[in-house]
Formats: sequence, C-alpha cells, structure tokens
Amino acid sequence: MDRYAVVGNPVAHSRSPDIHRMFAEQTGESLSYDRILTSVEKFDACVTAFFQSGGLGLNVTLPFKQQAHDLAGELDDAAREAGAVNTLMATPDGLWGGNTDGNGLVRDLTRNHDVALAGLRVLVLGAGGAVHGVIGALLRGGVAEIVIVNRTHDRAVRLARRWSDPRIRAVRSEACVDSFELVINGTSASLRGEVPKIGESVLGSACLCYDMVYASEETAFMTWASSRGARAVDGLGMLVEQAAESFYIWRAVRPRTPPVVQALRALG
Ligand code: ATR
Repeated sequence: MDRYAVVGNPVAHSRSPDIHRMFAEQTGESLSYDRILTSVEKFDACVTAFFQSGGLGLNVTLPFKQQAHDLAGELDDAAREAGAVNTLMATPDGLWGGNTDGNGLVRDLTRNHDVALAGLRVLVLGAGGAVHGVIGALLRGGVAEIVIVNRTHDRAVRLARRWSDPRIRAVRSEACVDSFELVINGTSASLRGEVPKIGESVLGSACLCYDMVYASEETAFMTWASSRGARAVDGLGMLVEQAAESFYIWRAVRPRTPPVVQALRALG
C-alpha cells in the first residue's frame, strides 16, 4: 500500500492521520498514513529511511519544519518564503519540499468563511513560525495591507522586512489604533489560555477574528473577540485545508473538506 506519515515531536496528538484516512475513504485512494515520533538529532536519518523504504510522502510538524526545509533539494515558493516545509515528497530528482499552511489558511478563509481577500485590511498578531508560513499566501491573495503586531516588536519588524512588500508593516501594540476587517491570531498565546495585548479598536465593523489555533472549546482570543461583537473562528478549517493541499500534491486528487471538518468537530 502507498505509505504516508506525519513526523513530529510530540506527534501523538496529531489529527493528520484521521484527516488523511477520511480523505482516502472519500476519494477511494488506497493508502496508509501513520505517525512517526523522532528527535532533532535523528530527524534527517528518519526522513531518509522513510523514503528509502518506499514511503511516498511526509507531513512535517513541530519542531521540524525548518529542518525539513534544509533537507529538501527542491522547494516550492511558499516553502522558500517561509523557510519552513510541512510537506515532503520523493521525486525522481530527490526530495521535494512544499509549504501548504498559507494556501490552507487562504482556502479556509475564502471558501469556508466567505472572506474576499482582495483589498482587505488585515491585522496579524504574532511573528513566529506559524505567521511566517501564511504571509506570502495572504499577499498573493490580494490583501490591501498587513499590519503585524508582536509582543517582541523587533521580531515583527524583521518579519515585515523579509517580504519587502509595501503592503506589510510592523506596528507596536500600543500604537495599533486602526481598525481591520480581518484579525488573525498567529501567536501561541491561546495554548496557554492567554490573549495577545491589543486594543479593541482594531475590531472594525463585520470584523472576522481568526485564531490559527484549534481547540474543542472556544479559545481565549475567540472569547475576547466574540464578547466584543466580532465573528470568531478557530483554525480547524485551516488544518483540514492544508492537509487537503498536501493530499492534492501527493495524489493529484482534491478531497472535499467540509465533511471532514464536521466529522472532526463531532469527534471533539
Ligand atoms: P510558532 O512556530 O507556533 O509561531 P514561535 O515561533 O515560538 O512559535 O512563536 C510564538 C509566537 O506567539 C510569537 O510571536 C510569540 O511572541 P514573542 O515573539 O514575543 O515570543 C507569541 N506569543 C506567545 N505567547 C504569547 C502571549 N502570551 N502573548 C502574546 N504573544 C505571545
């Protein structure tokens, strides 16, 4: 059977095997999808062994996305921009690396949440790996501007410079007084039940607040936003969409994502 897997540390919590099994069932593709736990020291050898033994594709999760980037001989634009790879594939020319996070976010926003990106003013909270993965796709989606606010301001400045696009700039939290149509929380604050420091004036009318974290319950950021009248959603749709992008890269078949999001919500 065609073999795929997700490699990470920790990896036991990963929903990717459930998602890809549902995709395979739905599309009639015959494949297996496992979890692989490894360490920073063993990552390169582990990936090499997987492909040498006939494995066809890997998803890469924390903390190995940069290492996967360095290991791949060929990269797609998104992986090059982000300096991170979440999808590996064996090709006749060697190891190919892509990053589907940004397209996953954009597809979730545009298809599942009816957001038209063209001309949109976007506030992005955070400047870590999660944010690096999605900026390029938002810019390509045609947004009018991206303002980055991060707890450590210098990191936001460095991130904004990386793209050298006039539509992107870093602003200090206390100086961020404009309002936005889309606010994306790309920090890991939700994992600790915290909300990044930001004034509520950022919430424009009909603002969508998007937490890239997903959880069985509303995140602290979602509660902050919805209690101020904004629409708030979590990142489960992004998780499923980025997986669908990987599936498409590997199998050239595009699965339908809404039933998979629904099934995962039901699982809790
Ligand atoms: P990831 O790869 O998940 O993005 P990361 O690179 O460690 O992980 O980045 C985490 C992001 O969440 C950073 O932007 C971090 O801010 P700092 O750069 O100041 O560390 C942000 N973050 C984490 N906890 C936060 C909190 N409680 N409030 C605000 N921002 C927080």
